[in-house]
Amino acid sequence: MNKESDSYSDINQEIVMTYKQHSMELIDGKKTAAIIKEEIAEQVIKIKSEGGKMPNLAVIIVGDDGASATYVAAKIKACEKVGFISTDIKLPDSITEYELLEEIDKLNNNDEVDGFIVQLPLPKHISEHKVIEAIDPKKDVDGFHPVNVGRMAIGLPSYVSATPAGIIELLQRYNIQTEGKNCVVLGRSNIVGTPVSILLSRKSETGNATVTLCHSRTKNIKEICKQADILIAAIGQEEFVTGDMVKKGAVVIDVGIHRVKSDKTKSGWKLIGDVNFDEVAPKCSFITPVPGGVGPMTIVSLLQNTLLAAQKKVY
Ligand code: GUN
Repeated sequence: MNKESDSYSDINQEIVMTYKQHSMELIDGKKTAAIIKEEIAEQVIKIKSEGGKMPNLAVIIVGDDGASATYVAAKIKACEKVGFISTDIKLPDSITEYELLEEIDKLNNNDEVDGFIVQLPLPKHISEHKVIEAIDPKKDVDGFHPVNVGRMAIGLPSYVSATPAGIIELLQRYNIQTEGKNCVVLGRSNIVGTPVSILLSRKSETGNATVTLCHSRTKNIKEICKQADILIAAIGQEEFVTGDMVKKGAVVIDVGIHRVKSDKTKSGWKLIGDVNFDEVAPKCSFITPVPGGVGPMTIVSLLQNTLLAAQKKVY
């Protein structure tokens, strides 16, 4: 081997090492969700073979919001796929708050139903807080009731809401350690940012991180994001996170989902997240794509909570 090829191989080695150091892995939520659904289906078969009761989920949907109808249809289909019993209860827009609370009361007292959810958003004349608080915490498989949120915060068994649970599950399944890591969460919503920040900071196997929760009043967001080993974007703004906000080797979880016009697709639109994927992905060790990242995990979390409810493992 001559000197030239020697040094060429040295340079090549260096490139390989650099690539290895910064190689990026996609976190495949679609595949992970499919695996978990199979695991749940196996558990259902086992329950059946032992003469147990099939998990039973009810979903209330009020009005005819197109997006909500699509989500509910996907939830019902997922139930069928894993062998759960499911019922969708369609109620008209004209229903009063009182009548809806009565429907909730019926489900609270229906022993056949293990868990149920009321699809949000609700028509303006109905208080979401009142509705959520009317659900029996033992059947609140959305994990939205203050009792479940409070139990989660202090480390008691609880139903954890779908998106935070899905994020934690993805981190676990991809062996991404959180202990001692700097986690930055963008967005403080009740159903994503706040609960995920609590879960990551708790003294637990999937926590023990140092968490910074950023929101609309946070100063120096870019500098804070650059410190993140794990960055969770749940801010609801299209491609908010840009390449210059992310340090090399970071893990980036994109919770955002936005439908935007595109002249590159047949349909004329595409889905994007809270992260500018093309800029950020080359810097990451792991990143979730949109679509196919966190999204598919949310329905799986609902199925997992329903299974826990049927098995009486939380309460
Ligand atoms: N609307 C959008 N996401 C959700 C969810 O996870 N649960 C309910 N109940 N409504 C939603």
